[in-house]
Amino acid sequence: MSRTRAGAALSTLSPAQQAVLEAAKLDLSNLSSERTAQDAERRSLARDFCSDTVTAPPQAMLEYAFKVTSFGDDVFQRDYCTNALEKHVANLCGKEAGLFISSGTMGNQIALRCLLEQPPYSVLCDQRSHLSQYETGGAAYNSGATLIPVVPSDGRFLSLEDVKKHIILTDDIHYATTQVIALENTLNGSVHPQQSILEIASFGKQHGMKMHLDGARLWHVAVETGQPLSELCSPFDTVTLCFSKGLGAPAGSILVGTEKTIALARRYRKLFGGAMRQIGILSACAAYALTHHLSLLPSVHSKAKRLAQGLQDMGISITTPVETCMVWFDPSPVGLTTENIASEAAALQEPITMFGSNRVVVHIQTSDEAIDDLLRLVRSLIQNGGPTGRGTTVLRGVYSARL
Ligand SMILES: Cc1ncc(COP(=O)(O)O)c(C=O)c1O
Repeated sequence: MSRTRAGAALSTLSPAQQAVLEAAKLDLSNLSSERTAQDAERRSLARDFCSDTVTAPPQAMLEYAFKVTSFGDDVFQRDYCTNALEKHVANLCGKEAGLFISSGTMGNQIALRCLLEQPPYSVLCDQRSHLSQYETGGAAYNSGATLIPVVPSDGRFLSLEDVKKHIILTDDIHYATTQVIALENTLNGSVHPQQSILEIASFGKQHGMKMHLDGARLWHVAVETGQPLSELCSPFDTVTLCFSKGLGAPAGSILVGTEKTIALARRYRKLFGGAMRQIGILSACAAYALTHHLSLLPSVHSKAKRLAQGLQDMGISITTPVETCMVWFDPSPVGLTTENIASEAAALQEPITMFGSNRVVVHIQTSDEAIDDLLRLVRSLIQNGGPTGRGTTVLRGVYSARL
C-alpha cells in the first residue's frame, strides 16, 4: 500500500481506533542507554562463568539467519529451514526423525510423555540429573511418573549394578514398575563411558524398558571422544540435544527418535503449548551454530582443563574430573569459600561473574584472559590469607554437585 493510501485508510479510522494503534506502538530502537549497557554486557560475557547458556548470538550468526531464514508456519510443517534442520540432526544421530523444541526441559518432558504409556510407573535416573533436580517436578506433573533418583555408587556414573539395585521390575501391585531409564551425557560436564551405557541399555531392553538420553551437551561428548553422534545415540529410543548451551544459539533444542515417536511428540508439543510458527530464524541460528560453533568446543574443553589445573596447583580440590566445559571445585583446603571467590571476582575492576556455588562453566565466548584473571585472583586471595572484604554480594547458583 502506498504511503498516501495508507494515510487515507488511517484517516478513515475513528479517533478511538487511532488511539488503540498509537497505544500499541513500541520503538525499541530508541533504548540507547540500555543498548550501550548491553554492548558492555556482551563484552563481559567473556568473563561470565555462570553457565554456557549466557552466550550472545554473534553478529555473523544473526546476519546468516536473516539471509537464509524461511517464513513457513512450523505448526503445519511448512517451514523448510526447520524441516531441513530436523532431518539433518536426526540423520546425524542415526534416528528416523527430529522435532525442534523450544527448550531442553520441554524436550525431556515430551520424550518421557511419549515413552511412558499407562501409569502407575517409574523412571530411573541419576540423582544429580537435570530431570531429577531442575525440571520443577515435571515428570510427576506431566506424565504422572515417580522418579527413582539413584546416587551412583562410584560417585561418578550410574553403572549396571546401580541400575539393577534400584530398578523396579516386579509386577507386585505395591510398586510403580520402571518403564524408562533416563540417562544424561554429559552429566555435570563428565562423559558417561559408552560401554557402561551399552550395558545398562542392553539390560533395560531385556526387561522391556524404554531408554531416554538427556543429551543437552552430547555435542561435547562427540567432539571430546571422537565418537559419532549416531553411536552415542544408538542405545536410546529418544535423545534431546540443545542448541542454546554449548553451541551458543539463542534458543532451541531438538528431540530425535523413530518416525512414530516423533509424530506423537509433535502432538504433545502442541498440547504443551510449545508449537511455534515462523521459527525459521531460530533454525537458521541452530544451523549456524552446528557449522561454526561445534568446532570451538575442543578449545572450550582445554580452557576448562587449564582453569582446573591452575586451581588444583594452588591446592584447591577439583571434585569431578574435568572432561568438557565444567569445573567443580572445593576451595576449603586453602581456607576459602566459593562465595568468597565469587564476591571478590565481582568486585574486580573488570568484574568476573560467577555464581557463589562450586561450579564454573567455560563457554565459546570465554576469554583466555578471564581464566588468567580468575586464577590470579584466587592466587592473591590465598597469598593474602583470605578475602579482602571488598567483595560484593553474589547469587548462589542453583547447580551444585551434591551427591
Ligand atoms: C543437562 C541439561 N538438560 C536439560 C536442560 C534444560 O534446558 P533448558 O534450560 O533449555 O530448558 C539443561 C539446562 O541447563 C541441562 O543442563
